Amino acid sequence: MTFSDAEKAAIVSIWGKVAGHTDELGAEALERLFLSYPQTKTYFSHFNLSHGSQDLRSHGGKCLILRSNMTFSDAEKAAIVSIWGKVAGHSDDIGAEALERLFLSFPQTKTYFSHFNLSHGSQDLRSHGGKVLNAIGGAAGHLDDLSGALSALSDLHAYKLRVDPGNFRLLSHSIQVTLAAHFGAEFTPTAQSAWDKFLAAVSAVLVSKYR
Ligand code: HEM
Repeated sequence: MTFSDAEKAAIVSIWGKVAGHTDELGAEALERLFLSYPQTKTYFSHFNLSHGSQDLRSHGGKCLILRSNMTFSDAEKAAIVSIWGKVAGHSDDIGAEALERLFLSFPQTKTYFSHFNLSHGSQDLRSHGGKVLNAIGGAAGHLDDLSGALSALSDLHAYKLRVDPGNFRLLSHSIQVTLAAHFGAEFTPTAQSAWDKFLAAVSAVLVSKYR
């Protein structure tokens, strides 16, 4: 997720006015949430939700100072790098299989590849599958700077290919199923959870420049 200089300036300028008043503004945002969408109150049955309550002020303040920051624990990093070590060297085969699963399970994704031969084992599938997985492998080496590592690819998908963002979840799913099929013993629930988070982070970067 990247921001233009103008976007950064607008966000920081408004934040400068919010800072120091997070309790009041956060409480008001919550009050608007609960009045307009009463079903959201079900998560807060233990709170006093009346206007100006200490619960609203305290929780509202916490919500406003939360910063979004996708980070990976050491265990997650180890799981991502370890599974990638098994894929590297076989990225054409594994990538082709991931794409084949994508196109069979979610045929609407084939519309982006009308110029490819999509039959089982085709050179197009192997070549493109290899490129996709090698890009993911490259990202696995830059877990602390995915935005920088994937910047050119992000431009390509946003400005040129204009792939609908919903498709990234489908490809991430197909990759995970392929990894499970090949590396069942190593692709433990913990490893899968790390890869799911990793692929979601990669996808977030690739769709981050759409607007
Ligand atoms: C994890 C997510 C993804 C990664 C890492 C990824 C990676 C790549 C890479 C490395 C290329 C080749 C770039 C080049 O040749 O310079 C590429 C091209 C492309 N990608 Fe993605 N991609 C992802 C998701 C998707 C999705 C979800 C779609 C659509 C369903 C898609 C559609 C395309 C298309 C149409 C091309 C151009 C193919 C060609 O004509 O050669 N990508 N992608």
